[in-house]
Amino acid sequence: MKVKIGLFALISFYFAACNTPPQNLRKAADRNDLDLGFAVHTSFFNMSADDPYIELLKKNANTLVAENIMKPVYIQPEQGVFHFEMADQLVDFAQANNMKVRGHCLVWHQQIPYWMNDTTFTREELLKIMEKHITTVVSRYKGKVKEWDVVNEAIDINEPDNFRRSVWYKVIGPEFIDSAFVYAHRADPEAILYYNDYDAEGMGEKSNAVYEMAQNLLKRNIPIHAIGLQSHFTINQIDLDAIEQNLNRIGELGLLANITELDIGIPADSFSDQALEEQAKSYGQLLQLILDKTNSTAFIIWGLHDGLSWIPGFSEGKRVAPLIFDPSLEPKPAYYKLLEIL
Ligand code: G3I
Repeated sequence: MKVKIGLFALISFYFAACNTPPQNLRKAADRNDLDLGFAVHTSFFNMSADDPYIELLKKNANTLVAENIMKPVYIQPEQGVFHFEMADQLVDFAQANNMKVRGHCLVWHQQIPYWMNDTTFTREELLKIMEKHITTVVSRYKGKVKEWDVVNEAIDINEPDNFRRSVWYKVIGPEFIDSAFVYAHRADPEAILYYNDYDAEGMGEKSNAVYEMAQNLLKRNIPIHAIGLQSHFTINQIDLDAIEQNLNRIGELGLLANITELDIGIPADSFSDQALEEQAKSYGQLLQLILDKTNSTAFIIWGLHDGLSWIPGFSEGKRVAPLIFDPSLEPKPAYYKLLEIL
């Protein structure tokens, strides 16, 4: 009799263990073959190994991206002087925990050092500078950082030709985009190379411009492999059908279309439990969209918890609480919604 009861208990325990939903997002994402993770805040680099932030990352991410420290102003603050300490720390941490790293970003108009942001360089000089930066950074992490945001935010639909008047554009011309992708591809032919932008998630003038640019690059055999949809959203302003159409047309070009910087802000004057539920619903719908598309493989959230998000500062307090953990690192309804969907 005792043996029977023991066996029954063992079998019950086994089935209960099998049916228990995963306790964290990471396992659930792994089961779905989805790259899921967070932008890692600059304060990470001074944390002790047992910091709750780090514990939370380990449980909930299989993919990390540096929110800031892989940008040129951090990596090459002086011409020819490269600082890889923090980038190495992130990549080592990811490797030790069997996580992927997205590289962000190689060519942008913001967070470039003063010396680089100089329109008195000749075209050849600036091309060489760009080549050296890209080659040095991408080669260092070859095989470790498997994807890069090569060009970030180069489209500006207020310009007659849709190209932002960055130092890159002004000195080199729009072909700086071609060169950036070619240099990155030469440095790591296996890396997945992204064009990454904001306000171009659904259908509209800006996403049309991104689409046309990508189509044009592909026609000329420029090695671009993916479009990053940053996805800095506000609740009740997300047009899912339009995003789906955009994902589809990018897929038809043969490119990946991934969510690279998701946050969903809540207007401060309408913050409520209901708003948090609305936020959770949108997180869930966007995740479902990514899971449903064969050309979408990643769902990256721009920050781990609300206490460290860029949104409240940037919006001067008008939009708040855009992430899936609260400032005490407690899961919000959006976290549970993602878990449920996975
Ligand atoms: O490093 C300095 C520090 O020395 C100084 O004490 C401190 C005082 O304000 O500023 C620190 O720099 C800040 C940096 O973040 C690191 O914390 C900059 O002022 C601040 O402007 C910068 O903001 C970042 C922003 O990019 C810059 O445009 C945000 O954290 C980061 O979330 C944001 O990320 C971008 C993506 O790269 C591209 N897509 C849009 C997204 C949101 O803007």
